[in-house]
Order: sequence, then C-alpha cells, then structure tokens
Amino acid sequence: MIAYILFTVLAILLVYLRNPYFMSDLNYAVTAIRIGVRLSKIKKSFSSILDSFLEKVAKHPQKTFLIFEESSYTYSQADKESNKIARALQTHGRLKEGDTAALFMGNEPHFVWVWLALAKLGCVAALLNYNIRSRSLLHCFSCCDAKVLIVGADLRDAVKEILPALREQGTRVFILSDHSDVEGMESLSDKFEKASDEPLPPQLRANVDLKSPALYIYTSGTTGLPKAAIVNQERVWMATTLLSFAGVHSSDVLYLYLPLYHTAGFLMGLGGAIDKGLTVVLRRKFSVSNFWNDCRKHNVTVIQYIGEIMRYLCNTPKKENDKDHKVRLALGNGIRPDTWADFLERFGNIRICECYGATESNIGFVNYVGKIGAIGREHFLYKMSCPYAFIRYDTEKEEPVRDSKGFCIEVPKGETGLLVGKIGNRNPFSGYAKNKQQTEKKKLKDVFVQGDLYFNTGDLLRVDKEGFVYFQDRIGDTFRWKGENVATTEVADHLLTVDFVEEANVYGVKVPGHEGRIGMAVLKLRENMEFDGKAIHQHVKNYLPSYARPRFIRIQDVMALTGTYKQLKVKLAEEGFNPAIITDPLFFLDDSKGYVPMTQEIFTAITEGTLKL
Ligand SMILES: *[C@@H]1O[C@H](CO)[C@@H](O)[C@H](O)[C@H]1NC(C)=O
Repeated sequence: MIAYILFTVLAILLVYLRNPYFMSDLNYAVTAIRIGVRLSKIKKSFSSILDSFLEKVAKHPQKTFLIFEESSYTYSQADKESNKIARALQTHGRLKEGDTAALFMGNEPHFVWVWLALAKLGCVAALLNYNIRSRSLLHCFSCCDAKVLIVGADLRDAVKEILPALREQGTRVFILSDHSDVEGMESLSDKFEKASDEPLPPQLRANVDLKSPALYIYTSGTTGLPKAAIVNQERVWMATTLLSFAGVHSSDVLYLYLPLYHTAGFLMGLGGAIDKGLTVVLRRKFSVSNFWNDCRKHNVTVIQYIGEIMRYLCNTPKKENDKDHKVRLALGNGIRPDTWADFLERFGNIRICECYGATESNIGFVNYVGKIGAIGREHFLYKMSCPYAFIRYDTEKEEPVRDSKGFCIEVPKGETGLLVGKIGNRNPFSGYAKNKQQTEKKKLKDVFVQGDLYFNTGDLLRVDKEGFVYFQDRIGDTFRWKGENVATTEVADHLLTVDFVEEANVYGVKVPGHEGRIGMAVLKLRENMEFDGKAIHQHVKNYLPSYARPRFIRIQDVMALTGTYKQLKVKLAEEGFNPAIITDPLFFLDDSKGYVPMTQEIFTAITEGTLKL
C-alpha cells in the first residue's frame, strides 16, 4: 500500500516537474484546498459575509475601511453607521428578515452602509443600476418583489418619474436626504441620524442560511430588459474567494471605481475586501486623469479592471512618473493581449490576474500564472469540484452539435468549444428572479447522459496544450455573412492597428433581401487625426477576407458603453446604416473607390437591390 502511494506521488511529481508552471499550480492547489476547507466549515455552521465584516470590526475597529473623496471611515464607524440605518429601516420601513429592499444609488459610502444595514436585518438587497430610467427601472424594481426602495439624493428625479407606478404597488420610497418635498418619498437621513448605533441582535437574521438569497444583481444580456440574477449566500462566498486566488492579503489597499451594483465591483471587490479586512478607496466612477494620482495618494496596491479600462490608461500621454506607484496587482477581465504587454511596459511590474466568470454562472477561471492573453488556466482540482466541458457548437444553427444518440460532443484540446458547467449541489445555478423562461434558456439538458443538466455560459473558449484557456467569442458576438462566420472582436483588433483609430466596435447589420448580417464598425478617431478612407480600405483589404470587411463605418466622438464599460452592439445594429437617420459621419465601402461618404442614393440602391453587396 505504502509503495503504491509513494509510486503515485512520484508519478505526479514527475508529471509536474515537466511543467514550468509547477509552483503556480501548486500554490493554486494549496489555496483551493484552504478555501474548500473554509467553505465546508461555513456549510456546516453557517456564517455570512456580514459575520466576516463583524469579525473584522472586532479585530481591528480602528483600521480604515473606506476612503471616499476627502473622508475616511474606520471599520467601527462603518459598523455604527449601518446600525443606525438598520434601526431606521426597521422602524420606519418596517423591514424584517426575508424582505427585499432595492438600492438605487451611485458609488458612495452610504451604498455600503445601507447594504450592511439590510444584511443586519436579514433582508435581501436588490442592486439597481443607477443608469437605468423609466420603464427599465420599474421593470428591474418590480421583478424582485421589493417592498422598499432606497434612493440616493442625486437620483431623486429619476424616481419621481416612476413614483405613481411605485405607489400603486404600495412601495415605500426612502431618499437619502434630511427632508423630502415629494409626496410619497420619505426622507431617511434625518431618521437614521436620530437612531441608536447599538448593534442589532443576530436573532433578527437567525433563519438566513447558505441557500438564502443575499442579493439580486442585474445582468444586461444582449437582448430585452435586464434580468435579476439571484445571488444566494453561497454564491457570495464563492465570488469573494477570487481575491484569495489572486494572492491579496490584509495589508493591501484596493482601488474600487467599478459600479457597486455589479458583481465585479460589489462581490469580488467590496465583498472580497471585507473578507480580507482591507482598506478600500472608493470612487464615484472611473476617471482616467485621476487614476494614478489616486493610487499614489492612497498607496493603492490592488486595482480592478474591466473591459476597455486598461486601454484607456495606455492611451493617455506618457508621463515621467508612470511607474511611480505601489500597485502590484490588477485583477479583472477583458484585457486585450496587446494592451496587456503595453500596460506592463508602461506602468511597471504589475501582476495581471485575468479572470473569467459571470454573475449567474456556476463556473469560472483564473489566470493565476499571468500568461499574456489567457483568461484562465485549467486545474484538475477545480475540474474535480466543478465539472465542466467544452462542447462543439454550430454557429449557423446557433446550437450545440449533437451526435447520432443526441448527445453533445467534447472538442479536443486546441479547438474552440462552448463552455458548459455541470449544475449540481455544489455548483448550483440559481437562475433569474421571476423569469422562468430566461432561467430555462440558460440550462442545457441531456448533454452527455440522459437527464444531466449543464449551465450554458454562451461563451466559446479554447484550451491550449498547456491548459491555458482563451476567450474566443461570445455567442452573439459572431455574425454570418455570405455563409462565413465573422468574429467581431477579431475585426476590431485589426481596425485598432490603423494609426488614426483609437477605438473600434464591430457588429453586423441586417440588409433587406440578404441572409445574415453585413459588417459595420463604429470608430473613434485619435485626437487631431482625420478619417482616411483610402488608408483604412488598404488595411482591411490586406488583413481581412472580403466577407469580414466592414461595409459601413460610422464615426463617433464618444463610444457608447454599458455601465461596466463594455461596448454596446445590439442598439447600434438596430440603428443600421440609413444616412437619413444617423447623424454621425457615415462611410460606405465601395469596392473600387474605397470608403466613400454614405449617401441616400447608395442607401436606396442597397435596399432596392440594385447595388450588389
Ligand atoms: C504611503 O506610504 C508612504 C511610505 O511607504 C508613507 O510615508 C505614507 O504615509 C503612506 N500614505 C498613506 C496615505 O498611507
């Protein structure tokens, strides 16, 4: 027996010694085991992220918890502020365990205090995106059955607009201000200022357990109204572990500018920071000009990024003091490989920890090695606890390929496949609130055996021979033209190499009388540079097959982005290429002349089919 164990250990060692990432993999394994042990303890005897916060309050009450603009708050102050708010909400809002309250606020300390207050009452917090208005806002509010809406003072007018509908539903609306002159909107600040800051008895939340919903976080999705992903206490724990995998320790200072209404900012950022007992520098929103000064001023060591942020930072004029800061770690997702290399060269030795995941997903990856371009790395321990697969996907039919028995087919290493995560007790998919249809749509049944169930991430990924995972495409980010697949990100990458192009967003637009979609790009030009139709034509001709070349180019001064700095595509695609509707400069690719200004004549010729595309 002992010989057998020894042999196994030796065999594993040998395999690993041939792996240059051995130490990182081992480190990952140790962290994963530690986290696993901790989570199983939490499962046995439940404690929440709030308990973790209270532990930190007891351990280091005077440590700075939050820095915001010119103010700073210790752990103890944050605790007391949230006690007062909890008492006010209990008395005036009549909130109790299990109730849901929606937060409609920008990034500010009160966002954090109100959420802590709700947690102390055993309530669920729905985190509304503060950019949404009218019908969307009402929809998001209503789909989680909230009893109470808590509004930041600056968002008063947005709520006033939907107040009649809210009152009809019997909703209580509180605004974070000392008085309110709007009927049906009650002031909250005056009430909590008078309340006691004594701790609230834990019995108020005695029935909260691992499976209880903790939050609703809205995911924008590609079509339709936002969906409220149900985030239960277990999911909160899973998301906060990311900082551990990234190697964050309690002495770190986290810079948080991502919106608190989203998973990256709220769970991975704030939640992770609480669990580690960090100091958080909170900003209302991202500012490219203040970014590094803020980091210097507060000795920030960890930053988060998403989408295009890293490119914005690299696009600023170079400065002497670019490397003068204490940032050692950046974690997030969506950095392009070229930006990654630029960023390191420009801002010095910062570990970039690219991650992959989604709010409602039961699967995620971390690139803990720092391999440029990869969004994660496979690890056998992870696969054991979270079974997943990459399956063959038919982009034409927009569904997974099935074999003669009706089962899905795993792609071999090196090939692109659709990532699906097995839904099980340990890797649940909680779905969307009051949206059975969308919840069912994310589930894939009978994948490898009759009756099994997987979560469909909608992402096409590829794993290389060394086990690194690369993002290829999100279903929907590919369109078809002339029977060929066009990957929008790939076309955008090519456009970005043209010297006058600062940003590019590629999508497909429908053309009457044609199957599929034809390529279109929105470009933002570099400062003081002109659009050169000839040069860009030459470039796309050199680098892109004819079906992938954007037939239309639209120029915008400011690129439309979602609240999480991702590019908007659906809305742009709907707007199409009609020069009578679009007021931005618009160009058409004429095969003989290159990009020429789009005219009504060209438009008519295309729609009538006299101009062949
Ligand atoms: C930042 O670090 C420096 C030296 O390490 C120290 O002198 C300074 O007080 C720190 N600043 C803050 C805001 O903690």
